[in-house]
Amino acid sequence: MEKILKKILEDNKKFYKDGKVADYIPALGKANIEDCGITIIDKDKNIHSVGDYNKKFTIQSISKIITLMLAIMDKGFEEVFQIVGYEGTERPFNTISYLESEKVKKAINPMLNSGAIAVTSLIKGDGEKKFDRILELVKVLALNSKIDYDREVYKSEKDTGDRNKAIAYLMKSRGIINGDIESTLDSYFKQCSININTIDLANIAFSIANRFEDVDLESHIDKKKLSSLLISIMVHSGMYNFSGEWSAKVGIPSKSGVAGGVLSVVPDKYGIGFFGPSLDENGNSILGYKVIGELSNELDLNIY
Ligand code: DON
Repeated sequence: MEKILKKILEDNKKFYKDGKVADYIPALGKANIEDCGITIIDKDKNIHSVGDYNKKFTIQSISKIITLMLAIMDKGFEEVFQIVGYEGTERPFNTISYLESEKVKKAINPMLNSGAIAVTSLIKGDGEKKFDRILELVKVLALNSKIDYDREVYKSEKDTGDRNKAIAYLMKSRGIINGDIESTLDSYFKQCSININTIDLANIAFSIANRFEDVDLESHIDKKKLSSLLISIMVHSGMYNFSGEWSAKVGIPSKSGVAGGVLSVVPDKYGIGFFGPSLDENGNSILGYKVIGELSNELDLNIY
């Protein structure tokens, strides 16, 4: 496996030149655009890592999978999907204008910023407690009790997060979300700033692929139903407005983040964590597309 991974990384790492690192959050602009690393965990839980697999980066939008999970565990499937929908969209991740329409009664899906902020608002816990519970779940799924959040990125997210603040308050004014908006936003900015590497990501992906079989979720939730739902959401919204093309060409349910992480789940088989901060215009890792796409061909991982 390592040999295959090394060759795929070697053949594709030059494509970092086709993208650029996210700089709309200043702290993210410091990333090394050439970084590229991957970890894949197989059915027997063997861990295969290559390249910059050990480098830390912030989880960003991949946290939206974790918060969706926690909100469902706290409130149940029905209550969560009363304020977010299931549909994919052509709109970018930070879309806001659709929330103005009187016809709109919920956020489009839980992977857009609007949907993710709505989902975070449902998670139990006042003040700091909300984020503490999110971080705890990340640690449990990643099998790493040392995970923490990056204070510099958090501050940068918060200082430049006016659009997310506008999204949250617009949703409140429309009656889509309730409660303490500042605490929800603070939790959202912190959850995006959680520091991980590709091994952590692959462990999280593997727990979903493995239907949370070995994970104590401290909840009576139907684990299989939960993993199926997360996987289906990744299929149509995980890569934002590129989700359709990703599904057609890569064929592995995945979720991206603007720091360059990609979490990929091959149901009942593999968990994959990727890092490459050079991004395309949709906010997805360019190298992630190339490398995971080739890996999918090489190992015949396309779920369709
Ligand atoms: O809300 C934001 O702007 C970010 N902190 C998270 C966005 C993100 O990762 C979008 N993804 N690809």
